[in-house]
Amino acid sequence: MADTTKTATLTIDGESYELPMHSPTAGPDVVDIRKLYGQAGVFTYDPGFTSTASCDSTITYIDGDAGILTHRGYPIDQLAGKSHYLEVCFLLLYGYLPKAEELEAFETTVTRHTMIHEQMHNFFRGFRRDAHPMATMVGVVGAMSAFYHDSTDISDERQREIASFRLIAKMPTIAAMAYKYSIGQPFVYPRNDLDYAANFLHMCFSVPAEEYHVDPILARAMDRIFTLHADHEQNASTSTVRLASSSGANPFACVAAGIACLWGPAHGGANQACLEMLKEIGTPDQIPEYIARAKDKNDPFRLMGFGHRVYKNFDPRAKVMKQSADEVLDLLGVDDNPTLQVAKELEKAALDDPYFTEKKLFPNVDFYSGIILEAMGFPTSMFTPIFALSRTVGWVSQWKEQLSDPQMKIGRPRQLYQGADLRDYVDIENR
Ligand code: SDX
Repeated sequence: MADTTKTATLTIDGESYELPMHSPTAGPDVVDIRKLYGQAGVFTYDPGFTSTASCDSTITYIDGDAGILTHRGYPIDQLAGKSHYLEVCFLLLYGYLPKAEELEAFETTVTRHTMIHEQMHNFFRGFRRDAHPMATMVGVVGAMSAFYHDSTDISDERQREIASFRLIAKMPTIAAMAYKYSIGQPFVYPRNDLDYAANFLHMCFSVPAEEYHVDPILARAMDRIFTLHADHEQNASTSTVRLASSSGANPFACVAAGIACLWGPAHGGANQACLEMLKEIGTPDQIPEYIARAKDKNDPFRLMGFGHRVYKNFDPRAKVMKQSADEVLDLLGVDDNPTLQVAKELEKAALDDPYFTEKKLFPNVDFYSGIILEAMGFPTSMFTPIFALSRTVGWVSQWKEQLSDPQMKIGRPRQLYQGADLRDYVDIENR
């Protein structure tokens, strides 16, 4: 932690308390309140953690006002344009860009961990065919702790590393199996001769009855989507993984908790909700009605894929995703995609409206991703599982970082109690 001699003074009922401050590499200073309750007998109050730093981290930095996202200091647009997902995984896990031989060794290791224990296939058959793939992923990933006992001891550095490899490698296999099961097609085993993104497309879209050739441009677009979703500081699902891990839970249980949190429509579920919203709008002439609903305080409707807790400018991932949408649709010869047309018109209408500009609501990572994924052949139910498999490296990197943090302790927030005062039990005959 970058320390400073700066302090903050808090005065309560005439009593002053000096609180140390810490300065980061980038971003706002923090006021260290760890001793506040012991000194002043008060809690701080921050539902939703809008002004709270939960940890130190060296992995990802977001400048919400400038619309900047960096992983280990490298801007996301450069990584999306010049790197590829497994190299970004190495960067997130180890903190530096690998040399060629290091990258090759890492990719070989991940490739050789892509199969899942054959007995785990039985789990899928216990679900209804129409189960949402996220339900299947939560269940199967949690069940990994019942199969990979040799990588659940979080006190063992090597076991932590093997668990990381297994989670990153097996998530696409599990997501693809959840998809295949939901459409009644046979599972497709991973292939070691395909790269990470091509392997996922192959496991999703190939069938035993015929050869399936992965289009390298689609594989590149898929890989870029993985990269754009890899990590994002202390978002809700990453904070869930960190909180679960703080109790000493095994990595598979922690990531299953992260998947469950990501599923929500306010978080990773927004990509599915956004495409469904764009289809419900249907045509550009319907946009004003939906803009009005999004602005109406009495209407719970929100523009899905819009707004962000941290970004008060364009989400840099949305910019790259928008370019990718044009490229993929052009490649697929889908030149008059009505959904993309509605998305672009909706973005323009919203950004011309003071309600959105004054509240600094811009398109986020989920606004365009669904258009690409649908064009690639995925049903909307697979959008969030793809987000989950992409984010696994972020969850795992943050999980590893927390375990090596000497300050780590179990996460246990307090509360502002507004309930009943102390009172005696009343027997039922006297109520
Ligand atoms: C992700 O945290 C991360 O990093 C997440 C993520 C990641 O990579 O991990 O970036 C991925 O989850 C992206 C966000 C996906 N979710 C959505 O697209 C769902 C729609 N967006 C909103 O629900 C909302 O913007 C959130 C949840 C994303 C952020 O909510 P906040 O920061 O708690 O903001 P808020 O709800 O307090 O809203 C502030 C104001 C409110 O109006 P007032 O009460 O101040 O008058 O803005 C309004 C809100 O009503 N508002 C919206 C809106 N989002 C916020 N109004 C209309 N449409 C929207 N989308």
